[in-house]
Amino acid sequence: EYDIDKNLRSPICVVLGHVDTGKTLILDKIRKTRVQEGEAGGITQQIGATYFPIKSLQKLTNKVNKKHRYKHKLPGLLVIDTPGHETFTNLRSRGSNLCDVAILVVDIMHGIEPQTRESIDLLKKRKTPFVVALNKIDRLYDWNVTENMGFRDTFKNQKKHVQMEFQNRLNETILHFNQLGMNAELYFKNKSIKDTVSLVPTSAVTGEGIPDLLMYVVQLTQKYMIKKLTYLSTFQCTILEVKVIEGHGTTVDVILVNGKIHEGDRIITCGLNGPIDTTIRALLTPQPLKELRVKSEFIRHPVLHAAVGFKISAVGLENSIPGSEVFICGQRDDPEELKERAMKDLNSILNDVDTSGKGVYVQSSTLGSLEALLEFLKQMKIPVFGINIGPVHKKDVEKASVMLELKPEFGVVLAFDVTVTGEAREYAKEKGVQIFEAKIIYHLFDRFTEYMKEVKE
Ligand code: GTP
Ligand code: NA
Ligand code: MG
Repeated sequence: EYDIDKNLRSPICVVLGHVDTGKTLILDKIRKTRVQEGEAGGITQQIGATYFPIKSLQKLTNKVNKKHRYKHKLPGLLVIDTPGHETFTNLRSRGSNLCDVAILVVDIMHGIEPQTRESIDLLKKRKTPFVVALNKIDRLYDWNVTENMGFRDTFKNQKKHVQMEFQNRLNETILHFNQLGMNAELYFKNKSIKDTVSLVPTSAVTGEGIPDLLMYVVQLTQKYMIKKLTYLSTFQCTILEVKVIEGHGTTVDVILVNGKIHEGDRIITCGLNGPIDTTIRALLTPQPLKELRVKSEFIRHPVLHAAVGFKISAVGLENSIPGSEVFICGQRDDPEELKERAMKDLNSILNDVDTSGKGVYVQSSTLGSLEALLEFLKQMKIPVFGINIGPVHKKDVEKASVMLELKPEFGVVLAFDVTVTGEAREYAKEKGVQIFEAKIIYHLFDRFTEYMKEVKE
């Protein structure tokens, strides 16, 4: 049963966790189950996200909501998957207010791992409510599978020794949480969800416990976040990625957190060489799931409502920066003021960089990750004289090479989560400019400090 409240937007849920805990497979399983049952049910694969409309959420949670005691009110749920190797810095860069709620995936066979802890720190810092999916229960020895069943029902069907092994691993995980200063409890035993983490046992392979997980997320958002989910007139839209797409030129992948957006809207956003002021040519999302084989890649929309992930096609997006906000410039808005707001973050970063001094050259994938990296280098007292966002090109190496004469050990490029073109690599070799590459900020820093040690010796 559902009764959509027209004043509520769909919550955004981010899936976080250590590498290979099953984040992506959980989402795959949910999508596949629906498609297999012949009801893609309007689940849409979006840009960097999956949208579950209320109809499919209702069906997906049927097994744990048998008498339909629970009434769904939210229009749907937008779920954003994240790769486990990305540190909190990249996530932060995707707009600190992007998610309303999170699923933290933990492998029941491994318990809490380094990236789990990192994710917990991030969620605590932002005060984001989260639930833990204690995944891979099917790997418990002798597990008896009933596809897509609610956890409590399938658990009853397990042999004594399987139940005991589960209990042991559960206790270990709870102890891990205790050691981190947190209480944790099986979700249906949790009497105090404000200060105790709920654990939902799941299997992304068999689908067991997935109805419980979805039900929990829906209830959590519906119960505690209504105020945050009430449509505001404020518009909030964040750029995730900048991509060149054949037939569309340079496009930006965005998440619309709040408000609505139309084809033809005038938008203003941050550009590496100044504000970008352009008009939306098209709002695009991929084809529905069951039609994945359809040749034409995207569907065009005249208007889109939050929360939704999509692609914007417009002229002049080449220098736009992932992590930036997009502003809509309506007839009553002052474009100059919006341009100033759009450029604020980048300008404050640029003000921190001493382009006349001696230092390293820093290149990063997003505004947020660049900010985090610069903050890190500041703490480590490593001066920076030049920055850029996006792939490392020959011209970047050229800029870094200027340092070779002033202070040779600074004649390097610190490349964080970006690709390096072949031409840039060759030129660096020729000039003797070292390029340090890493996807995790600490690795980049470790490599650079090691190098500085070697230089000094
Ligand atoms: P990253 O994106 O690399 O951080 O990993 P991820 O968390 O998205 O994990 P992914 O979904 O790619 O799964 C990693 C591996 O674990 C794959 O081989 C999956 O088949 C397996 N796996 C995931 N969930 C389960 C589960 O519930 N049970 C079992 N047996 N295997 C699982
Ligand atoms: Na993986
Ligand atoms: Mg994954």
